[in-house]
Amino acid sequence: MLVLGIETSCDDTAAAVLRDGRAVLSNVVSSQPVHSLYGGVVPEIASRHHITLVVPVVTAALDEAGVTLDEIDGIAATMGPGLIGSLLVGLCFGKALAFATRKPCVGVNHVEAHLFAVLAEGRELRPPFVGLCVSGGHTELVYVKEFGRYELIGSTVDDAAGEAIDKVAKMMGLGFPGGPEIEALAADGDPGGITFPKARLKRAGMDMSFSGLKTAVKYFLETHRPLTEELKRDVAASFQRNITEVLVQKLAQACEAKRVRQAVLAGGVACNRELRQAAAAACEELGVELLIPSPPLCSDNGVMVAVAGTLRLAAGERSPLGLCACSTLEEVLDAGASCAGWSSQPRVP
Ligand code: KG4
Ligand code: ZN
Repeated sequence: MLVLGIETSCDDTAAAVLRDGRAVLSNVVSSQPVHSLYGGVVPEIASRHHITLVVPVVTAALDEAGVTLDEIDGIAATMGPGLIGSLLVGLCFGKALAFATRKPCVGVNHVEAHLFAVLAEGRELRPPFVGLCVSGGHTELVYVKEFGRYELIGSTVDDAAGEAIDKVAKMMGLGFPGGPEIEALAADGDPGGITFPKARLKRAGMDMSFSGLKTAVKYFLETHRPLTEELKRDVAASFQRNITEVLVQKLAQACEAKRVRQAVLAGGVACNRELRQAAAAACEELGVELLIPSPPLCSDNGVMVAVAGTLRLAAGERSPLGLCACSTLEEVLDAGASCAGWSSQPRVP
């Protein structure tokens, strides 16, 4: 089964061709450097760039895979969550392509796609497991009962972790996206050098908050100007350590509460080496197998969309041509719950 996956939920225009849900034949990602001028993604600009890029990116994915559109068995496109204008471009393009070629089409849940991306790297998932998806737009803890059956057990109540990282990087005069820049600076800093506060949420449980931390860094920077290079490195290292500890603590708490044997860490922030190592150590201590995609499959890509799309298509799921994009995970889960085949147990062919 050859599936074309199309991803345009944020600022990456991406497409990939996948064989039998496992073999990556191509993986094309076109990022939009224009957003670095603003220190964050500008939704209107992102949508316009997707319109320009979606045809060349899909064409490049087919070429790189050495297949023609005729040979494709199904088309999967991200339906949400994400920026609505960006989502509409890839979803409408995917549906139009499917309509014109009379091929089956499915809308894919972006968070689900992140969590199942490891299947394209030869890893095995054995639900139930806990998934933590951390990116510029998401910080979501999900209990995966089986493919297609999810319980959202925790999320950020304000900024996504990656969003806070990008904003702090901007305050420090670093480039966008901020994650890799903070990580590079943190490598030579002292993670215990500055104590930033950790959010205490009124509602006990697995929710997280990063905006207080972001504000604490802002005040610190304001009161310590001009910053020495050494202090900058300590801010980066202490900030990164704070975020890592919160994420790892919530992941471990969720694994214990749900008594799972497996967990997945995914999303762009999961490229971070300190987070990968700390999460791996915490899970090992709990006897939980932690799966983390390689960095290219952590950040947004078409492969993960094709993986989730293959599972849905194999289960006989077909999205109606009227399928709309959804900006929040709750909306995506509601839309999915009414789709035929949602709660079946699909197998990769
Ligand atoms: O999944 P992704 O590519 O797109 C979204 O769905 O947002 O994630 C992008 C986010 C950005 O906030 C970026 O700063 C962060 O992932 N990121 C990192 C690293 N690489 C990317 N954060 C921390 N450390 C990194 N090495
Ligand atoms: Zn993402």
